[in-house]
This record gives sequence, structure tokens and C-alpha cells, in this order.
Amino acid sequence: MAIESGLTERAALMRELRVLPSILSADFSRLGAQVDEVLAAGARVIHVDVMDGHFVPPITFGPVAVSAIADRVHAAAGLIDVHLMIERPERQIHDIAAAGADSITIHFEATPHVHYTLGAIREAGCTAGVALCPATPAHVLDEVAAEALDLALCMSVNPGWGGQEFIPASLGKLARMRAALPDHVTLEVDGGVHDATARSVAEAGANWLVTGSAVFGADDPGAAYAEIVAASSAR
Ligand code: DX5
Ligand code: ZN
Repeated sequence: MAIESGLTERAALMRELRVLPSILSADFSRLGAQVDEVLAAGARVIHVDVMDGHFVPPITFGPVAVSAIADRVHAAAGLIDVHLMIERPERQIHDIAAAGADSITIHFEATPHVHYTLGAIREAGCTAGVALCPATPAHVLDEVAAEALDLALCMSVNPGWGGQEFIPASLGKLARMRAALPDHVTLEVDGGVHDATARSVAEAGANWLVTGSAVFGADDPGAAYAEIVAASSAR
């Protein structure tokens, strides 16, 4: 029963309009407290950016960071959304899932084995996503969209760093992705999302909005989170 209700909650969150704080911009000397602040403000999906120094120049963190926050996120009925910016992600799925990930997204550009890796992610009990860099066309997901994909991520900056400016062409790409994807597939946008861009990405069809520096760069991450939520759904 516990597993069934957990899966139902996950499916519900994946369909909702959600702002996802990215811990990339958090203060790691007090990571747990930072995550608690955004959970208390209503965040339920926490985004974890794994970088390997190869696919993207920076090195960040891996399964240890996922397991460090897993209990408090799950205790709040939340999800951990892991964004793998690493070469050959198929080699890391088991460890990332075992650390407590609920959703794992690989980069289309990082492996020739996208279909295989999506299957491995689902077998590990997670929802399976593919991220596209800004220059990668939306149609590359056509062959996996119907059967193998739970989530598509449109990078609205070049992957690797927080605090970059939103690439305006991402709005048209988001709309094309939303139109081509089956309804059940979550559309995530990542990079340059803040209170001035949140509404336009939601209107373009994204329903998971990642935001790093705009939340954890603020003096009060909980208040900043709430402002972006309000901006994303403002009508
Ligand atoms: C960048 C990461 C993002 C990053 C976004 O490669 O994938 O998740 O945290 O940061 P902001 O919101 O500052 O653009
Ligand atoms: Zn990310």
C-alpha cells in the first residue's frame, strides 16, 4: 500500500505546475536546512544537478548529495529529481537510484544508448527523463516519446552553470516539445527561470520549472520560491 500511494503521489506531482529548487546554488555548509526552508514554503520536488567535469566542465556531486537530502524530502512527500550532466550515464543509474532518486534525467547528447538507459532507469524504480541542450532539436525524442519517456527537459541555458541568462528561443522550443509529446510526459525547463521568466515558460507548456540562483541566491529562499510560484501561475 505504501508503495502504491507513493507512486500515485509521484504521478500527481509530475502533472502539476511545480517550481523545483535546484540545490546547485544552495549553501552546502547547511544543505539540510536550505532544503527544509523550501519544503516549508511548499516545494515538493528538489532538483539535483550532477556534473562530471567531462560532459560539462564543472564537477559537482553525486549519490552522496542525493542520499544526504533523501529522508527529509521523502518525509515531506516530496521527490528528488536528478539531472545527470555526465557522459555515459547508463553506468551510474543504479547508484543514483539506490541513493534515493525518484526521477532521473539523462542528456540525449551524453550516450548513444538513450533507449536502453531509459529502460534501466525505470527498472531501478524511477521515472525516466531525457534533457536536450539548446542546440539539440526537439524532434530527437520522437522515437522514445510514446513508450519509453516519462519526462523531457528543455535546457534554456547551456548546461553546467547556474545564474545564466534565459535563452529566448527556448520558448518556441518548449511549445514544439509540448505539442509533440504525449500528454502524460512531464515537460521540464531548466536555466534562467525566475520571477520574470516563469510565466512565459509555463504558458509555453512547461510544468516543472527548475530554479537555482533565483531561490538559493536570495536572502530568504522560501520567500523567493513563493514569489516564483506566484509569478508562474499569474493570470
Ligand atoms: C545548469 C543546471 C541548472 C541550474 C539552474 O546546468 O542544470 O539546474 O541549477 O540554475 P539557474 O536557475 O540559476 O539558471
Ligand atoms: Zn539542472
